[in-house]
Amino acid sequence: NKHSLLSIQDLSIHDIMEILHDARVFNISQQDWHLPMHNALVANLFFEPSTRTHYSFESAEYQLGCSVADFNSASSSVTKGESLYDTVKTFEAIGYKVLVIRHPQDEYFKELEDIAIPILNAGDGKGNHPTQCLLDLYTMYDEFGTFEGLNVLICGDIAHSRVAASNKDALERLGANVRFAGPKEWEREGYPTIDMDEGVRWADVVMMLRIQKERGASLAGISDEDYLHTYGLDHRRYAMMKENAIIMHPAPVNRGVEIADDLVECEKSRIFKQMENGVLVRKAVIKRAFGYSAFKED
Ligand code: CP
Repeated sequence: NKHSLLSIQDLSIHDIMEILHDARVFNISQQDWHLPMHNALVANLFFEPSTRTHYSFESAEYQLGCSVADFNSASSSVTKGESLYDTVKTFEAIGYKVLVIRHPQDEYFKELEDIAIPILNAGDGKGNHPTQCLLDLYTMYDEFGTFEGLNVLICGDIAHSRVAASNKDALERLGANVRFAGPKEWEREGYPTIDMDEGVRWADVVMMLRIQKERGASLAGISDEDYLHTYGLDHRRYAMMKENAIIMHPAPVNRGVEIADDLVECEKSRIFKQMENGVLVRKAVIKRAFGYSAFKED
């Protein structure tokens, strides 16, 4: 479906800027904007744990006046062996108009090409996380007003991160400079690296990533404290950051591992702001999925 959002690569720069614009209109608008109720059935199908993405999609859906079904795979017919395709086809058959899906399999959506209704990808394995990318872009644009020439440092478990992959693609297309730092074991081909101290001095945005243990990431023989001082954002590195630089993290955060506990809510941190912005961009993405064009520019 042309209104699906499966990967950030599906979106042109023009599409991305339209979504950011709509999210901004949702932010500043004093008026509610509602979809017609009879036509606004949305189901959230999460086959992998989630707090932010799941419940900010749900918040966005309710704010748009949608009727929301919250699918629980553990109490569904998935436990009887029903496939992802048949599960999704069932939601289409019983009248749902838009589906939000998170699944541990990379590019699970390739199995769903025959589904006619829009699918919004809420994360596939270590592949894509397009709405996380959009909320990250919104947060940076809100702060700096441009992507052109912006220096973005992404740190930590690059190898297993769908957030790193989605952000690299979009930020490079938008004219930002993106560099990566972290353990050698988690470097990724085609992802330009920088020494972490040098990167922290260079960056306008320092984006920290969690170690994705659920995808097999592990470093032998290193304590949380050693990780923090070797690869994380501790106070020594915080002191090296540019005056106007900001800290981002897609969360969940392992406080005291990739970032010092008290830096999570420090002045430069936009970590909880990112979550607020997530609701705005998800409203914009849902509106688009229902076929509405972008709000007019002023
Ligand atoms: N950032 C993010 O995707 O968080 P959740 O896994 O809690 O949705």
